Amino acid sequence: VTIAYGWRADFDSDALDALHAGGFGRPRQGIDWLARVERHSLGWVCAFRLERLVGFVNVAWDGGAHAFILDTVVAPDVRGQGVGTALVCAAERGARAAGCSWLHVDYEADLTGFYQKACGFTPTAAGLVAL
Ligand SMILES: CC(C)(COP(=O)(O)OP(=O)(O)OC[C@H]1O[C@@H](n2cnc3c(N)ncnc32)[C@H](O)[C@@H]1OP(=O)(O)O)[C@@H](O)C(=O)NCCC(=O)NCCS
Repeated sequence: VTIAYGWRADFDSDALDALHAGGFGRPRQGIDWLARVERHSLGWVCAFRLERLVGFVNVAWDGGAHAFILDTVVAPDVRGQGVGTALVCAAERGARAAGCSWLHVDYEADLTGFYQKACGFTPTAAGLVAL
């Protein structure tokens, strides 16, 4: 079955809330995701399989050269088929087309294979403060 990818595609916020909850193993948050990303993000990529939302990545930015991918998620039953890699590739194309020069990501050590080998990110040092 073909998976369709859409840059800034319309989606149902409830479906994304469920995808995030299932994908990250956390409770549903009831967030109006569509309103949030339309207001704050450079873009986002949806993956649809037979009209069902099965993957998502959010592309935040600084209004200039830097874009940042957040919350890459694929539904557990469609993992391991290249959907995650295709989402990140589409995010990269979208950010390039919008004029960005850099796409950033941070991740936990167990995802090094995904981001570096599959998606082609170069490792950098990065930091984080819990607020
Ligand atoms: C990470 C995630 C988006 C990958 O999606 P996916 O569609 O399975 O990814 P792909 O099929 O494109 O994977 C490509 C390669 O990346 C690596 N990879 C994928 N998921 C991985 C994981 N969870 N851990 C380690 N390596 C992984 C594998 O080498 C894989 O190749 P293989 O299938 O030939 O072994 C998905 O596992 C997910 O939603 N995880 C939970 C949410 C999460 O942690 N997101 C990251 C937030 S930074």
